[in-house]
Amino acid sequence: MKDGGFILWFTGLSGAGKSTLANHVAPILAARGVAVEILDGDEVRENLSKGLSFSKEDRDINVRRIAFVANLLGRNGVCAITAAISPYRAIREECRAKAQVPFVEVFVDAPLAVTEARDVKGLYAKARAGQIPHFTGVTDPYEPPSSPEVVVKTGEETLEQSAAKVIEYLKRRGLVR
Ligand code: ADX
Repeated sequence: MKDGGFILWFTGLSGAGKSTLANHVAPILAARGVAVEILDGDEVRENLSKGLSFSKEDRDINVRRIAFVANLLGRNGVCAITAAISPYRAIREECRAKAQVPFVEVFVDAPLAVTEARDVKGLYAKARAGQIPHFTGVTDPYEPPSSPEVVVKTGEETLEQSAAKVIEYLKRRGLVR
């Protein structure tokens, strides 16, 4: 066990800005002397979770894998930033309960109207057309956190403002200088 590690758990709809925020926050933390790794939803599904579907069972497996790796990193002094939808509250709470390092949940709160209007990957249109089953927010649930440590409103704030909220919280908690 090495001091200083923690888990920064981003949750929110597809297209809410989790990856963008993770990629913005990571170098800020690095500049403050924190070792950082990002476990991005899309990247994890290309590697660690290749072949898993988007059924509840497979999402839960995916999210537990992410938590497992985040914990390994965290206990070795790394800030593990996770950026997966992680739509189910109970599994997120399980990850929190099992974490051996501080677990900071960040709700990347963009309403469906915003993520769907952006539709960066064109997936919402496909989901509405019935081409993607179990699409989060459309034909599959998203359960918002009940008491997240940080809430960022990516539809209303700039990226810099959202990142500053995260960093300010981590400073208050004494997790970064
Ligand atoms: S999670 O629910 O298991 O946490 P994860 O973050 O890994 O999801 O993957 C979400 C990404 O997969 C989305 O950003 C999107 O690009 C893609 N995707 C493909 N099918 C779906 C689906 N049915 N629901 C949500 N995202 C999907």
